Amino acid sequence: MKAPIHPIVTIRQEPFLQWPLFSQAEEAAVLQILRDGNVSTHPVIQELEKDFCQFTGRQFALAHCNGTAALLAAFHAIGLSPGDEVLVPSATFWASVLPMLWCGLVPVFCESEPDTLGLDPVDAARRITPKTRAIVIVHLWGLPCKVEEIQRLAALHGLKVIEDASHAHGASVGGVPCGRFGDVSVFSMQGDKLVPAGEGGVLLTDDEEIYTRAVCLGDITRIIKLQGPERRFAATSFGIKTRIAPMSAALGRAMLVRLPQTNAVRNRNHQMLSEVLEPMGFDCFLAPANVERVYFEFIIRHRDPSINLVRLVEVLQQMGCRVGVPRYPLLHQQPFFTEGHWQAVGRYPAGTATHGASLPRTEQANGQLIRLPNFTHPQSEPLIQQYAEAFHQALSML
Ligand SMILES: Cc1ncc(COP(=O)(O)O)c(C=O)c1O
Repeated sequence: MKAPIHPIVTIRQEPFLQWPLFSQAEEAAVLQILRDGNVSTHPVIQELEKDFCQFTGRQFALAHCNGTAALLAAFHAIGLSPGDEVLVPSATFWASVLPMLWCGLVPVFCESEPDTLGLDPVDAARRITPKTRAIVIVHLWGLPCKVEEIQRLAALHGLKVIEDASHAHGASVGGVPCGRFGDVSVFSMQGDKLVPAGEGGVLLTDDEEIYTRAVCLGDITRIIKLQGPERRFAATSFGIKTRIAPMSAALGRAMLVRLPQTNAVRNRNHQMLSEVLEPMGFDCFLAPANVERVYFEFIIRHRDPSINLVRLVEVLQQMGCRVGVPRYPLLHQQPFFTEGHWQAVGRYPAGTATHGASLPRTEQANGQLIRLPNFTHPQSEPLIQQYAEAFHQALSML
């Protein structure tokens, strides 16, 4: 007979897991926009862009209405041609990949590697063809991917790098911040993110041509301010409007100021629980010496692949833990791709586009992950202790 499962997590969890956590500074920043009255083109947008340039050390920033729009601008602006192939991870949010289809680019799905859950540079190298022109990297869950290896691969084959840093505000590799590793880099500021702005995104680059093309795509009021011949598009743009709302920009600015503090709370809390879980056999994705990771999500896996993960999650949930599986299903398995709808969006002439991926390692690895909640409150220790106890007891019941 199965042993009865008793609740272990008895503390009311909401106050410790709440996000976003806004302070009076954010209230004041948004109120100021309302009082100023310019709720569409307020200069707070340019202030936000300057802040992001400073934060990442980049030369040009262009704020967008969300990260997806910033990624569309990145794919548009990077100067590729329809039919060009782009190496992408399958284990990511759809927005890292799908906007490229509207530019006629062909996503080529690659395996993720187990250390960082990011794109595997070895597998990516095997998928390079004469049509490969770019590579998308994502720092999944706040874990910087293997940027040095990927940059080497990109340099060797003349590939552009598009960096989706939407999960990684404040992470770095060798002291270089995420957001500086791409020819063009993007952050989302959607409400769950580490810098939540309601909705928002930022495109970053050091290449003025990329910046200019992104402005022409989506920021009609700014085209006239460009110095070059692109000013002639000031009356039409390229037909998409992607400007951020000033109230979101104000919120994003204020949250960016508090990022070191809010990241430090998550890091401390998650490392505290990781120290208990690691000796129980869990891999908590602690960062190696030269890497600073952040926690958009707190994801772990058990080192023993034979463990009954479904049962473990079930038991933990019955004990009161808010655990589950990671939220993104793998992209290459989605009907949009498996049924061929992507070809209609990309307008590929019949037979010219290549696609079809078998990613057995990523599929297997994705099934072994557990998602914990984010402990966002500085006084989360009592709740963390109850989670640790629940994991201890749940493992002994398997
Ligand atoms: C990895 C990744 N890229 C891009 C995006 C898109 O950002 P947004 O929701 O701001 O459009 C998200 C958002 O959830 C994301 O998780």
